[in-house]
Amino acid sequence: MTSSSQVPNSDVKDLNLAPAGRKRIEWAEREMPVLRMIRERFERERPLDGMKLVACCHITTETANLARALKAAGADAVLIASNPLSTQDDVAAALVAEYGIPVYAIKGESTDTYRAHVKMALDTKPNLIIDDGSDVVATMVKEYPELMDTIVGSTEETTTGLVRLRALEKSGRMSWPAIAVNDAQTKHFFDNRYGTGQSTLDGVIRATNILIAGRTLVVVGYGWCGKGIAMRGRGLGANVIVCEVNPIRAIEAVMDGFRVMPMDEAASLGDIFITVTGNRFVIDGRHFEKMRDGALVANSGHFDVELNLVALAEMSEEREQLRPFVEEYKVKKTGNRVIVLGEGRLINLAAAEGHPASVMDMSFANQALSCEYLIKNKGQLAPGLHLLPEEVDTEIASIKLAAMGIEIDTLSPDMIEYMNTWEAGT
Ligand SMILES: NC(=O)c1ccc[n+]([C@@H]2O[C@H](COP(=O)([O-])OP(=O)(O)OC[C@H]3O[C@@H](n4cnc5c(N)ncnc54)[C@H](O)[C@@H]3O)[C@@H](O)[C@H]2O)c1
Repeated sequence: MTSSSQVPNSDVKDLNLAPAGRKRIEWAEREMPVLRMIRERFERERPLDGMKLVACCHITTETANLARALKAAGADAVLIASNPLSTQDDVAAALVAEYGIPVYAIKGESTDTYRAHVKMALDTKPNLIIDDGSDVVATMVKEYPELMDTIVGSTEETTTGLVRLRALEKSGRMSWPAIAVNDAQTKHFFDNRYGTGQSTLDGVIRATNILIAGRTLVVVGYGWCGKGIAMRGRGLGANVIVCEVNPIRAIEAVMDGFRVMPMDEAASLGDIFITVTGNRFVIDGRHFEKMRDGALVANSGHFDVELNLVALAEMSEEREQLRPFVEEYKVKKTGNRVIVLGEGRLINLAAAEGHPASVMDMSFANQALSCEYLIKNKGQLAPGLHLLPEEVDTEIASIKLAAMGIEIDTLSPDMIEYMNTWEAGT
């Protein structure tokens, strides 16, 4: 444990939780061989020496292992939560007391506290920002514009954060380079699909202990996350309906064997609803009104805007907290009860532990290497969004495969030649 004189300033629930948090962080590390290799190299090479870094992430065991790698690289890192409900308090305590990394995050913190933590982090005048949802970057642009000229770069973890960054780039106000970590293949193919697929259902099950088999599960949004939830829902025996607005993704869902229909129709059929669109009010008042008695509604998209809970509250006569993360609303007009999980915040992090470490291994390898890439290329990258070079993506996949003990074929010189010719044909 860090001696009391070395315990950094922090705002966490209870430092006495640190030993339990450390055990869980070490448990996650066993499933993160790629990040461990990066940390060991960072310890030798110190690529982030002297850099001030703010990481706004879900404070989980996996994030703790990312923070350890950043510290090993020489960064002076401060961690804050990227969602008021996603912090694991024992992990936050361990980061502070056992690893000497400042953390400002408490599970269940108010929106005001959450925002105050974002500002405290920006007050440290970071050189690098790791963002998850772009709240830190948006606050920087609005309230700390002077940092926009001094920052070396930022990284963005999730789809929703990139939607915001693309809008910012389009407005001409993005004056620094940012790495679109979510767009790396070793991130969204795996984290969004297999991570969200498993952990979202884990969140629903841990909150309610219901049987999924035989239920009608409505998945709203058939992007990378929606595909994973629909696939795993079917695996657990649910009858899956998909709602989409994108015709191509809708056809994909049809050909994957799911029923596809508008939300107005699905509303009266579903037993469980899960939104993963990154969009606002995809389940609205008129949908809640059509739902069966006892319908369960959850969100796994980044922000708590996908369910219109203000409308649901206005149209309900009673509200009751039945279990942690399970709140029942009684709709006045129909008398039906609609059950909202995790206050409409990402259910996999509110009621479960987020993605398993094995999948975050690749996502956070991307984060760690993106920070190194930004520093190595300081002053040479144009302002705006960038991808990590493809060879880095491929290298992460190769290390992961090797860690899994899986070998694959390689191209022979003849194959390479064939793939590069236009002359060979029938
Ligand atoms: N819970 C988690 O741990 C976790 C992990 C990764 C991403 N996310 C978040 O999940 C959300 C989805 O991410 P993704 O990578 O799947 O994005 P994506 O862009 O691949 O997919 C979103 C899909 O939703 C559809 N959509 C948009 N509005 C809709 C509407 N009104 N009705 C039906 N469909 C609609 C889009 O057409 C798109 O196909 C984002 O907010 C992302 O940040 C959460």
